[in-house]
Amino acid sequence: MPGKDRMLITGGNPLEGEVQVSGGKNTAVAVIPASLLCDEPCTIENLPDIEDVHALVDILRELGAKVDYEPGKLMHVDPRGAEGDTVSYRNAQRLRASYYLLGALLGRCGRANVPTPGGCDIGSRPVDQHIKGMQSLGADAEERRGFLRASASELPGGDVFFDMVTVGATVNVMLAAVKASGKTTIYNAAKEPHIVDLANFLNSMGARIKGAGTDTIRIRGVQYLHSTTYAVIPDQIETGTLMIAAAATGGDVTVRGCIPTHMDALSAKLLEMGVKVTDYDDAIRVRAVGQKRAINIKTQVYPGFPTDLQQPMSALLTTVKGTSFVEETIFEQRFRHLDEIRRMGAQVRVMDRTAIIEGVPELYGAPLTATDLRAGAALIIAGLMARGVTEIYEPGYIDRGYEHIEDKLRSLGAEIRREPEL
Ligand code: UD1
Repeated sequence: MPGKDRMLITGGNPLEGEVQVSGGKNTAVAVIPASLLCDEPCTIENLPDIEDVHALVDILRELGAKVDYEPGKLMHVDPRGAEGDTVSYRNAQRLRASYYLLGALLGRCGRANVPTPGGCDIGSRPVDQHIKGMQSLGADAEERRGFLRASASELPGGDVFFDMVTVGATVNVMLAAVKASGKTTIYNAAKEPHIVDLANFLNSMGARIKGAGTDTIRIRGVQYLHSTTYAVIPDQIETGTLMIAAAATGGDVTVRGCIPTHMDALSAKLLEMGVKVTDYDDAIRVRAVGQKRAINIKTQVYPGFPTDLQQPMSALLTTVKGTSFVEETIFEQRFRHLDEIRRMGAQVRVMDRTAIIEGVPELYGAPLTATDLRAGAALIIAGLMARGVTEIYEPGYIDRGYEHIEDKLRSLGAEIRREPEL
């Protein structure tokens, strides 16, 4: 995803003030394909204005749905004319979650052809559980010659046992199963907040899904899904990134519009570091006072510490006195941001799946390249802490998942802007 701009950050300003979090990326990219299952027009609110959402608007339109979209506000989807069952290669490559069209189209019309998706390069991202899930529901499904394909003249539903906890395959099976002719049970399901949000969206249209948020989800297929208006939940990862930015810069930031309980794993780690975290009904205040302590982190499925926040958090740890150990258990190549931050003076060794971080007193601004979405967020954190100017190339990755990130950080006192590459 080449970007022709670069982001420039002059570090050193403590972030202070209040900032509003946007709607969730990971929930938006599941709920938008789910709108194709509706038999009437529906409305989705609180969608973030990010590239992944723009890509899904184009995909829905190419399939024949009528979409009225007010960026950053709401989307009306009228799926009644959507006759297509094939996503174009170009659009599928624009985001990882294009593979949700596999489940959504199978559920809608009994056929789906979706090019294997693009998205962030954070290690191998197999789709075997998605294919197995569709087969367990009674579909013919395969990954072949660059496509994920599934078809069924009638989809009975069935028991799905996942070999590992996977968010993507849990979503995909839910999408395919809501309009199956029979019952589906998903065992070893993911429990992330956006799984619950997707179930709430589908149930608001008349679907019958129980158990979302636990490891067993039961779905009784229905024939008809009616109109709904639904607002997606706030972005857990954006909230966390802003909390980390506050801690990293020695700041005092209140993130408004979030769901504090979704942030418990991060809040616990910040508290362990000596950062003050205060939860309110729909806001969190983060105050960094005094010296921070080194900590250890192991990424886990929800409600454990999220892999998506490992990258920004490990950036913060590069300046925390002492030795921190960060173990990444979900994606094997999720330390590439640390290679970049090393160029700023960080002392980091990566051994297998663990990064060993020796905190240094200071980072120095340097030219860096974002290699994926959350790596980009990590580089922003590093740039906000560093002495001097940090240049981040390929900021397009960051735009995939963070809405107006520079505006938000500037409103908190950061010196951050975008310029064309030299
Ligand atoms: C989702 C999130 C992403 C987050 C990740 C882990 C969305 C849109 N993306 O990604 O932000 O980083 O969860 O919390 O919600 N796996 C297989 N076979 C499969 C599917 C997955 O082996 O068929 C493995 C993966 O390689 C990985 C693990 O399962 O090691 C978890 O992956 P998964 O939860 O599916 O991640 P995504 O849905 O891609």
